[in-house]
Amino acid sequence: MSDAEFQNLKRTIQKLLNIQCGSYKEDYIKRRVLSRMRITGKTEYSDYNKILLSDQKEQELLRNALTINVTKFWRDREVFDLLKSDIIPGIINKKGRIRIWSAGCATGEEPYTLAIILYDLTRLKADTQITIFATDLDREALNKAKTGIYDKRSLENLSEGQIRRHFSEMPDGKFEMKKHIKDMIRFSQHDLMSGKPVSNYLDMILCRNVTIYFTEKQKNDLARMFHPALVQNGFYVMGKTEFLGREVEELYEAHDALQKVFIKK
Ligand SMILES: C[S@@+](CC[C@H](N)C(=O)[O-])C[C@H]1O[C@@H](n2cnc3c(N)ncnc32)[C@H](O)[C@@H]1O
Repeated sequence: MSDAEFQNLKRTIQKLLNIQCGSYKEDYIKRRVLSRMRITGKTEYSDYNKILLSDQKEQELLRNALTINVTKFWRDREVFDLLKSDIIPGIINKKGRIRIWSAGCATGEEPYTLAIILYDLTRLKADTQITIFATDLDREALNKAKTGIYDKRSLENLSEGQIRRHFSEMPDGKFEMKKHIKDMIRFSQHDLMSGKPVSNYLDMILCRNVTIYFTEKQKNDLARMFHPALVQNGFYVMGKTEFLGREVEELYEAHDALQKVFIKK
């Protein structure tokens, strides 16, 4: 398997899948491609390139494999704006505490976004009890999340002030989350298919852009598993392109249907 063949395959990926390979480490792309090659029984990059060029289904499967851990700070800004301006202050003002679970947190940008919002909202109320659980199945992603180190480009959705307050610039030009934010989050490995929540009495569960490979039944089971883990009127936040299945519709009502924010009934 030559490097020239791999570079050629990367050009196909870039053009056909419209994925900027430069945003990923080369090793990461290789691993995901090799996994698809194993599944499709190909041993040469050039043979896999041929299937990719001719088979739309394979294009979709490789796109999914490459974007499985993709996440961002403030991903879908409107949802986080809604949480910040309305939902989170509502919970804190009523209870003086808040418990959140970021389920399927990948490399940590989602729980860190929540921690930044909560820190900035409550910094004058030192007695607010804040618990953020952040879980994922993927150990490698979780390890990156725990280190809290990101390159400058990942911080594009953050303001200069947020970067200054919550990150330290490292000698190699990367940025590390400061301790006061890291300490707000409890990271752990957890399989959402296990049927068990990571904790109970949660005010909010964010499970966004996670169920791409789940069957309808698995998606419904997930919504059923979250239900008793939430407090009465607790919030369930899904990804923008995700839907609540018919069979579980009676468990939740829409708080904001567009932003996919639901309330436990
Ligand atoms: C695309 S990322 C979403 C990250 C973040 N929630 C967001 O919306 O930006 C999907 C994550 O779901 C995780 N995941 C997939 N299946 C899972 C499962 N059964 N249990 C826990 N995590 C899972 C993957 O490892 C991946 O890190």
